[in-house]
Amino acid sequence: MAVVVLDFGSQYTRLIARRFRELRAYSVILPGTAPWAEIERAEPEAIVLSGGPSSVFAEGAPRPDPAVLSGRVPVLGICYGMQYLAHFFGGVVERRGRAEYGKAVLTRYEGPLFAGLSGEVQVWMSHADAVTRLPEGWRVVAETEENPVGAIQDEAGRFFGVQFHPEVSHTPKGLEILENFLEIAGVRRDWTPGRVLDAMIAEVRERVGKDRVLLAVSGGVDSSTLALLLARAGVDHLAVFVDHGLLRLGEREEVERALSPLGVNLRVVDASERFLSALSGVADPEEKRRIIGHTFIEVFKAVAEEAGPFRFLAQGTLYPDVIESAGGFGAAKIKSHHNVGGLPEELGFELLEPFRYLFKDEVRELALLLGLPDTIRLRHPFPGPGLAIRVLGPVDREKLEILRRADDLFVSLLKERGLYGEVWQALSVLLPVRSVGVAGDERRYGYTLVLRAVTSVDGMTADWARLPHDFLDEVARTIPRKVPEIGRVVYDLTSKPPGTIEWE
Ligand code: XMP
Repeated sequence: MAVVVLDFGSQYTRLIARRFRELRAYSVILPGTAPWAEIERAEPEAIVLSGGPSSVFAEGAPRPDPAVLSGRVPVLGICYGMQYLAHFFGGVVERRGRAEYGKAVLTRYEGPLFAGLSGEVQVWMSHADAVTRLPEGWRVVAETEENPVGAIQDEAGRFFGVQFHPEVSHTPKGLEILENFLEIAGVRRDWTPGRVLDAMIAEVRERVGKDRVLLAVSGGVDSSTLALLLARAGVDHLAVFVDHGLLRLGEREEVERALSPLGVNLRVVDASERFLSALSGVADPEEKRRIIGHTFIEVFKAVAEEAGPFRFLAQGTLYPDVIESAGGFGAAKIKSHHNVGGLPEELGFELLEPFRYLFKDEVRELALLLGLPDTIRLRHPFPGPGLAIRVLGPVDREKLEILRRADDLFVSLLKERGLYGEVWQALSVLLPVRSVGVAGDERRYGYTLVLRAVTSVDGMTADWARLPHDFLDEVARTIPRKVPEIGRVVYDLTSKPPGTIEWE
């Protein structure tokens, strides 16, 4: 049973599905043109037609299977979806003189879609076409100053359309509108974290049985939560944590402390020597990544062979990865995890991906239920190649150690001052550039450390974080005092684009 979101190419499609899950209704995304048979397999209780860049009257515009519009299941069309409904049932959609983009306020709203709402309802508009004539028997149930057709519904109350985007945060009461649609459609609201966890445990037990599962733990939320899930399910597993010598201060111990007491069968492999000698003298970022990826596979393979045989390889693949790697949709291709890509085929593993229908925030909810400590659950993202791509130029133990100590001071101060949760990712970069300074009466010739902190939603774009000057001042004074190899501290003001978050 699910709310099926049919995707017509909107940048917000995933957000629509996430919002329904926030409302505790299970939702899945399918291609806009999916045949009814495929939609039916998802047992739709309600269907949403997403927005999209096309014009409904254009040749080749994506169309849902006509069975979607048979009235069997209630349908909500958003933006393009609403225009398609109007067009399909005999109304008229036309290109506007100019696109409407940005905030608008509903000057009037009524009907079940807006039940319980009062006061000003601000909405987010983003469209170039508009419905100019309604199908017979339909009525307008909301309008804005600029747009006389802000929302529509049919006579029987089976079809609804909104020109605005209820899923985005710029429509503050959008969640209530989506909730009203769930009410109208009579959708079950039992997608709670507890139920998700029970279902996942049952699935893992049934699939794995008495066989053995191998997984790689990186210290991030997804793989740590997965390890805890396997432990909770009580299946025979081995969680391998490869210490490549490129970790942050205390990271390995933190992972051990978090997982071992909760029943995870964890094996920590210290392969730092091997990684560091393979990286010796290498300055090119992509070459560093290639060496690290390659060495990781070798190390992991050796453990798998020595401790094997294993039937399953568990991976923390998430729903967005599944959608993406399938090039949109259809059968989910295997996502190549940044570290274990290629392994399943090579070693003949079967893949176990219990999170393949979950969004990141849902994994965090599971992590909470499974007892993952906040130090890991709320941790900033950390790249697979670790500090190797934060020591610019060739990597060696000495530079890694300097960076590790300095970065730990930066991150610890962020936490102490309550700023860690305010930024999406914070990191330090050690430049191979030295500059002259003075400490006491002595001349110093120290390294340059870059502090970088960004705000972001998904890492695809990012803005530099406006950390308080007093805080930056405290960090800039503390680091050279405690890590004398560093003579200068700078703060990176580059957004992404044009910069990337990491420096390499
Ligand atoms: P960039 O630097 O591309 O980073 O703006 C976006 C996000 O991805 C992380 N990142 C990586 N993660 N392997 C990873 O597992 C990598 O090679 C890698 N490079 C960047 C980065 O930390 C940020 O969160």
